[in-house]
Amino acid sequence: MSPKKGRVFSGARPTGRQHLGNYLGAIKNYVALQTDYDCVYCIVDIHALTTMDATIGLKQNTFEMAFDWLAAGIDPEKSIVFVQSHVPQVMELHTILSMVTPYGKLIELPTFKDKIKQQPKNINYGLVGYPVLQAADITLYKSDLVPVGVDQAPHIEFTREVVRSFNFRYKTDVLVEPAMKVTEIPKVLGTDGVQKMSKSLDNHIELASTAEETQKRVMTMVTDPQRMRRNDPGNPDVCNVFSLHKIFTSAEDVKSINAECRNAGIGCVDCKKKLAANLNMYFTPFRERRAELVKDPDHVEEILRDGAKRACVIADQTIHEVHEAIGMLE
Ligand code: TRP
Ligand code: SF4
Repeated sequence: MSPKKGRVFSGARPTGRQHLGNYLGAIKNYVALQTDYDCVYCIVDIHALTTMDATIGLKQNTFEMAFDWLAAGIDPEKSIVFVQSHVPQVMELHTILSMVTPYGKLIELPTFKDKIKQQPKNINYGLVGYPVLQAADITLYKSDLVPVGVDQAPHIEFTREVVRSFNFRYKTDVLVEPAMKVTEIPKVLGTDGVQKMSKSLDNHIELASTAEETQKRVMTMVTDPQRMRRNDPGNPDVCNVFSLHKIFTSAEDVKSINAECRNAGIGCVDCKKKLAANLNMYFTPFRERRAELVKDPDHVEEILRDGAKRACVIADQTIHEVHEAIGMLE
């Protein structure tokens, strides 16, 4: 028996190079959970197909994300890392689960309503079924815990309902109701200091960027908007630079920045330089590992294929149990 506490599953769409928001909101937690759980981390390329832009450069974006995940410490020796479409059993489970899913529930989900506002010209069938595919991801691996951002809460709740419906209809307990673990502890704002960090808003700091690029981005960060001149006192509580200092700077330095900002002892330029230096120090080992991985994409592909093979073993077993529970001729 596994000495771990249970199985974690999480997925993310292949959005290419990851940024600081992705790191603090998801990847860092994925890495930490590996100690206590059997983790399965999936690059959900089929989910990405629901959005037209996401299909551009899909293969490269899948690689870029894998480079970032692996360089950040997702360890294929400990965890299963793979690409969703490499384990096609999930598509079968999706179809089976769709039969116990009321259509009305799907179109009422807040995530679906947001999507149709975002892409009114592409409200495809797959988009309606997106949460069903997600439920299939989670249940195919009998996952106990799903670390996701709070925006995904409706999908996890939906998954729990689908599990109950399936188990009730077929008088079984083969599917496992997952729990949710909200991972978005810090709300990571972009360089504009107002909106959430995101690639599409171009207010992000890529993990893979060089020290110079990182410094350049940090120097563009919006600080306390009330602080107009160097001699004005500032308010770190409303400053996104300070929020990041709290994560990447020593407690002692955070304390002095906090005090000196308020009495105009430190200027924003110096404060940002410090942040950039700390970020660069923190991500140096990451960048070194990433550079190694980028040099050998075949090896990364092997890691993903091996992950898929291990995922397949679990998937086949679940599908078999599902067939039996339904009473299908296998
Ligand atoms: N819907 C998730 C998102 O947009 C991605 C996802 C797909 C996922 N399948 C999953 C997350 C399974 C957790 C578990 O972020
Ligand atoms: Fe923000 Fe630092 Fe400027 Fe204060 S000194 S407003 S914490 S950037």
